[in-house]
Amino acid sequence: MSDTNLNGRVGIVTGAAGGIGRAIALALGAAGAKVIVSDVRDGQGTVSAIETAGGQAIFVPCDVSDAAQVSDLVAATTGHFGRLDILVNNAGIAGGSHLAHELEPEDWDRVIAVNLRGPFLCVKYAIPAMIALGGGAIVNIASTYGLIGAPLAPAYCASKGALVNLTRQLAVDYGSQRIRVNAICPGYVDTDMGGYRANLPADQSAAANARREAGAARQPLGRQAQAEEIARVAVFLASGASSFMTGSIVAVDGGCTATFNHGHP
Ligand SMILES: NC(=O)c1ccc[n+]([C@@H]2O[C@H](COP(=O)([O-])OP(=O)(O)OC[C@H]3O[C@@H](n4cnc5c(N)ncnc54)[C@H](O)[C@@H]3O)[C@@H](O)[C@H]2O)c1
Repeated sequence: MSDTNLNGRVGIVTGAAGGIGRAIALALGAAGAKVIVSDVRDGQGTVSAIETAGGQAIFVPCDVSDAAQVSDLVAATTGHFGRLDILVNNAGIAGGSHLAHELEPEDWDRVIAVNLRGPFLCVKYAIPAMIALGGGAIVNIASTYGLIGAPLAPAYCASKGALVNLTRQLAVDYGSQRIRVNAICPGYVDTDMGGYRANLPADQSAAANARREAGAARQPLGRQAQAEEIARVAVFLASGASSFMTGSIVAVDGGCTATFNHGHP
């Protein structure tokens, strides 16, 4: 297959109840894939949107940090649709803003559990199904924070940096099985990661949004991305259009990491 048509393919998207994951699930569905919408939150709204657009999807709840739940997610996928071609490791949490010496060990552990153990578990249980098919595509949603240091985000930067190199490592081990593994590093995307800003008091929320807008404004493209702009790249990496790409780390960041003035507030 040499284009972005995904007819007949089956793909899991973790963290697909909202934000970037929802946009990726909709885009995979629009490209013809059958989609497993997975999240700790209710993802039925994403399923309905895919169905309204003429696609097929089911919702399977799953906390990606829990091995038994991830094993069940893959079993539900192959049980319902009979195969698994695509895994998008999108679920992630920001974990708040802290200096390392003020970060509680349990808060560090939770960020690593969701952002790094989660993708590992999903890969662990998905890969046997892909090997059985003779190939597959894995897309990890990392971050520009996995490429550079950013203020007040020690656990998040560490988790995403590790996910970037896990992407390369998996590409090495599974290329011979025709499983391609690539990562996207989004810059600022116009979502409310985990409701973080919405849950702040109004003045702090407004200030956090203003800092984000100001940071994005200093980058080459001068704005935040819409989730759909990340989703289009995820479909490309999941499809035959990227057939010679594996172990690639693709910044989709409006030029953020191309410049010293990367705009982090
Ligand atoms: N928004 C940005 O600016 C940005 C930038 C770079 C990277 N990212 C990455 O993109 C991904 C999506 O972020 P988003 O901005 O859409 O945030 P979001 O909070 O809108 O979406 C994340 C989703 O993951 C789900 N989730 C959280 N913990 C989970 C768990 N343990 N198991 C399963 N699902 C879980 C949440 O319920 C939510 O639906 C994350 O990995 C994030 O790190 C976001």
